[in-house]
Amino acid sequence: MAKKKYSHLVKQLKYQEADGEYMTMMSGADLDGINLSFAWGYRRGLGQWGSDGGLTHSHPYGECLLFTGLDYDNPNSFPAEIELALGKEREKYIVDSPTVVVLPPGLPHCPLVTKRVDKPYGFMAISLSGEHDLAESAVGDPATGEKKYGNLLKKLDLRDTKRTKGGNADFIEWWNGKDFEGFNLNFTWAFHTGLGAWHEKDPHVHPNDEVLLFVGCDPDNPDYLGAELEIGMGEGDNKEIHVFDTPTIVIAPKGLVHCPLITRRVDKPYSFSAISLNTEHETTWLG
Ligand SMILES: [Fe+2]
Ligand SMILES: [Fe+2]
Repeated sequence: MAKKKYSHLVKQLKYQEADGEYMTMMSGADLDGINLSFAWGYRRGLGQWGSDGGLTHSHPYGECLLFTGLDYDNPNSFPAEIELALGKEREKYIVDSPTVVVLPPGLPHCPLVTKRVDKPYGFMAISLSGEHDLAESAVGDPATGEKKYGNLLKKLDLRDTKRTKGGNADFIEWWNGKDFEGFNLNFTWAFHTGLGAWHEKDPHVHPNDEVLLFVGCDPDNPDYLGAELEIGMGEGDNKEIHVFDTPTIVIAPKGLVHCPLITRRVDKPYSFSAISLNTEHETTWLG
């Protein structure tokens, strides 16, 4: 069979293991040159760590951190307690439920200190740059008075979609950057078990770059997705169907027609994130 034209846009995730934790990382060069980097993985360790090493640092671009449990039956549970330092004053915040942390460009952050872990949890960092760039931050005087950065932590509340058919989400939450300067970003976090087509009016296209991240919920088997899916890429004579049954990222550069997305088989619940480089989700449905 002829080599597929869009194979480079459908990539199996490769995890690196360290101390029983698994992380996968990609930058713009891995993502067809789009202006995004991300890290996703399964964490279980106690003590100090960092989203980019352990030290207090900042980036010239915005970044979001996502903390999530991995339990489909309790999608809003989070089985750990993590302390996060924000600002050069290192104000301390506690993450003990599914949370998105918004890090505006230039805001010092970290270290993270995991204080309690009942079960492994999922962690994602979404960086609004194709190239990683960070500066260590000087530490200022300790915080006094009122805390300043509480508005940068948003608790996730995964909504039960009461889905009755199709492969789309059973539980989903959405974050968008329209209220934050420098966040040309919206993304979802969801748990899925459904079979069949995800959308009614596919294929579709966006005026912005998008990536679709499919990951499993088993922190001991990062290469296990628990489902088999297919996605259409391209249109007309160029349309291809790509099938995958391992953790995968699909890159949809702006203007590339994509989907239908069809779940063929589900053995275990899995998680999904759609990351779009736009403050609002803009979709043109073509079906
Ligand atoms: Fe960072
Ligand atoms: Fe899309």
